[in-house]
Amino acid sequence: MSDTPDSPVISPEAVDAAVDAALAAISTASDTATLKAARSAHAGDASPLAQLNAQLRNVEPTRKAEFGKLVGGARGRVNQALAAREKELAAAETAARLDAERIDITAQPHRARIGARHPISLLQEEISDLFVGMGWEIAEGPELEHEWFNFDALNFDVDHPARQMQDTFFVDPVDRHLVMRTHTSPVQVRSMLDRELPIYILCPGRVYRTDEFDATHLPAFTQFEGLVIDKGITMANLKGTLDHAAKVLFGPEAKTRFRTNYFPFTEPSAELDLWHPTFKGGARWIEWGGCGMVNANVLRAAGIDPDVYSGFAFGMGIERTLMFRSDVQDMRDMAEGDVRFSEQFGMVV
Ligand code: PHE
Repeated sequence: MSDTPDSPVISPEAVDAAVDAALAAISTASDTATLKAARSAHAGDASPLAQLNAQLRNVEPTRKAEFGKLVGGARGRVNQALAAREKELAAAETAARLDAERIDITAQPHRARIGARHPISLLQEEISDLFVGMGWEIAEGPELEHEWFNFDALNFDVDHPARQMQDTFFVDPVDRHLVMRTHTSPVQVRSMLDRELPIYILCPGRVYRTDEFDATHLPAFTQFEGLVIDKGITMANLKGTLDHAAKVLFGPEAKTRFRTNYFPFTEPSAELDLWHPTFKGGARWIEWGGCGMVNANVLRAAGIDPDVYSGFAFGMGIERTLMFRSDVQDMRDMAEGDVRFSEQFGMVV
């Protein structure tokens, strides 16, 4: 057996030592780069096992098979350990990368706001519900209205100063006599012509006036009109109805009072005032709307005999109602459509 002084000698101890060192390096390799270094140190061309393998050619023929098996088995174990660790590390690294790059698809991105219903729509429905709850029906009429329904049939004379009291949007051409309705009262006449008696209707809807756009006026706003035509209807029924509505909408402490006023389509007519202990600025009376007993001329224009039937009517602004009920300082907020305003009244959909 010829040997150079620094060549390792094959022995079970030398092989075991090389394998132990290799397995220790493999199992402590914590990433693929370290494992790569361990592979070249313990299974590469210059590794102790490769050198032991190279020594096989110097082994005497009778022991070649024995030592060949010893070194071959050792290299096999080391390669197997390398492959297993490599698999483990690759799986761990993939898992770590997936974890680092994870996108939480359940997170809420900044989506478009859901929106909120407009408080005027909500209040309009609440008022409608209140009257439907008393057995009344909801009536509708066109916003682009014939002058006859808006004025003439409501007893506004052609030269009546009251007609000028209304700041009306007349629609071109003027000889077609179309106006943007200035109040919901034309629906009184339409209902009397269309419906069977008795009549108990509520008409919420948009109306138009050439008013300024300011904190207390809008050129397009919303009213609710009430009309009752039946036998034996008196002003006490009107007062009782409005008092009930005030208490439902503003709370049981609310009170109402009439102040004499003039409307061509009611006689007698009244301004309705509303009192509440917690109005902004303290307990006080505010003007809520107009009302009165339906004028006999209006009944006649609709073909109803005023000696048999009588009735009452009222009309209030919904924006004004919301202003006092929810303490809104500036009516323009109701026209501008900013969802942040609407959201304050709840997200009812
Ligand atoms: N239409 C009147 C207005 O807009 C209100 C009103 C309605 C008055 C019904 C009396 C009866 O001012």
